[in-house]
Amino acid sequence: MAAQATANPRILLLVTGGIAAYKSCFLARLLMQAGFSVKVAMTEAATRFVTPMTFQVLTGHPVATDLWGERQSDALDHVEYARWADLVVIAPATADIMAKAAHGIADEIVSTMLLAFPGPVLMAPAMNDNMWRHLATVANLEILTSRGVHFVGPGSGWLACGTVDEGRMSEPEEILTAVRKLADGLPAAAMSADDAATASGFWAGKRVLVTAGPTHEPIDPVRYVANRSSGTMGYALASAAIGAGAAVTLISGPVVLTPPRGLAGFRAVETAADMAAAVGEAQDDGIDWLIMSAAVADFKPVNFAPGKLKKDVLGDGWSLALTRNPDILGEVVPTHPHDGLRVVGFALETDDMVGRASVKREAKGMDYILANDPTAAGSGFGSENHQVTLIGGDGIIWESASLPKEVLAGEILQQLAQADQKTGE
Ligand code: C5P
Repeated sequence: MAAQATANPRILLLVTGGIAAYKSCFLARLLMQAGFSVKVAMTEAATRFVTPMTFQVLTGHPVATDLWGERQSDALDHVEYARWADLVVIAPATADIMAKAAHGIADEIVSTMLLAFPGPVLMAPAMNDNMWRHLATVANLEILTSRGVHFVGPGSGWLACGTVDEGRMSEPEEILTAVRKLADGLPAAAMSADDAATASGFWAGKRVLVTAGPTHEPIDPVRYVANRSSGTMGYALASAAIGAGAAVTLISGPVVLTPPRGLAGFRAVETAADMAAAVGEAQDDGIDWLIMSAAVADFKPVNFAPGKLKKDVLGDGWSLALTRNPDILGEVVPTHPHDGLRVVGFALETDDMVGRASVKREAKGMDYILANDPTAAGSGFGSENHQVTLIGGDGIIWESASLPKEVLAGEILQQLAQADQKTGE
C-alpha cells in the first residue's frame, strides 16, 4: 500500500473542528502542488468552519463527512479510504481527536478512519492554550508519541480565544515540510497496481522540459499579438513531474503564475522565437521528454514599431501585416538532438477533435498528443477544471474526467508513463 516518495504518495487529510480548518484548504492545495494525491474526510464540527465542497473542488475527490449517511460512492467507505492512503495528516487536530486517537475511540468518520489506518500519521494540533496544557492532553500526547504518531506544532501566536500563546496550528508550509520528510521515509514495497507505472520510478531522474503559457509577439512597445493562455496546465504538469521525481526545466511565456519549487531550470521568454531558441538549447543540453503545452502564437507582426503607434496616425481602420512564426515542434525540435526524445504536444480543437489532433500528432512528429475542446462542458479557458483526451500512434489511449488541473496533471503523467512502458515492452 505504501508508495515510494517520488510516486505521488496518497494523503488522507483529516480535518477536525477548529477555526484553523480554513488553513487546511491552503494545505490541501500545497500538497497537491507538491505532487501528492489528496482525499479529505471531515468531522461534523469541521464542516461548521469550512464546507466539504471547498475541499472537493480543491482535490477533485468527494469528501467523507458521515459514517452513517447514504454513501455517494464506494470511495466514501471508511475502510476503503484508509486502505487507499499512504499517509494520514490530521490538520487541525483538536484535543478531542487526540483523546480519541490515544484511546482507540471510533465514534464518527474521522476517528473511525484513523483507527482503520495502519500507516504513518502526522498531527498538527490546534487548540486553546489551556486545553493544550491540560494534563489529559499532555498524557494523550505522550501516548500518541510513544506509539509513533508524528507531530508538527503547535506554534505560538494569536489564538481564536483572543490570547497570544501556544496552541496555534502550524502554517501550511511547515506542515508540508513535515509531510515531505515523512513521505521520503515511506517504503517502496507493496504499492497498488494502478500506481505501478509511476511508482516504479518511471519519472524519477528523467529530464523533462515543459513549455507553458502564451508567447507575445510585439507590434510596438505596448501592443502584442498572442493566443489566450493562462499557463496553468503547463505549470501543473511541471509541478507534478517534480513531485514524481523528474528533473524539470520550465520554459514559460508571459504569465502571472509563480514557478513551482524544485525546478532544475527556469526560463522566462516572450516571443515564439525566444521560446524556440530556449527549447533548442535545452535539447542540446539533453532532455528525455518534451511536454509542449505552450500556446505559441502562429503569426507575428512583420514589423516592430519602436515607438507606440498613435491612433490618430493610424486612422479609423488599420491593417497589420503578419508573418508565420517557426513551428517549434514541427521545425525546430527535429534540428536539435532528439534521439530517444519523447514528445508530447497539445491540441485545442473545437470540431473533429480526435481526427484533427491525430493528424497534428503525426505531422509534427509527436509521440503523444493531448487534445481538448475548450467549448466542451467541464473544460476551457479560465475554468478550474479541464478534460483531455490522450492520443498515441494507435489512437485514443485515455479520456480523462473533468478534473482540477493539479489532479489532471498527475493523472496525465501516470497515463504517459503507462503508455510508454507498454510501447517499450
Ligand atoms: O497551435 P497548434 O494546434 O498547431 O499546436 C499544437 C502543438 O504544437 C502544441 O503542443 C503547441 O505547443 C505546438 N506549437 C509549436 N509551435 C508553434 C505552434 C504550436 O510547437 N508555432
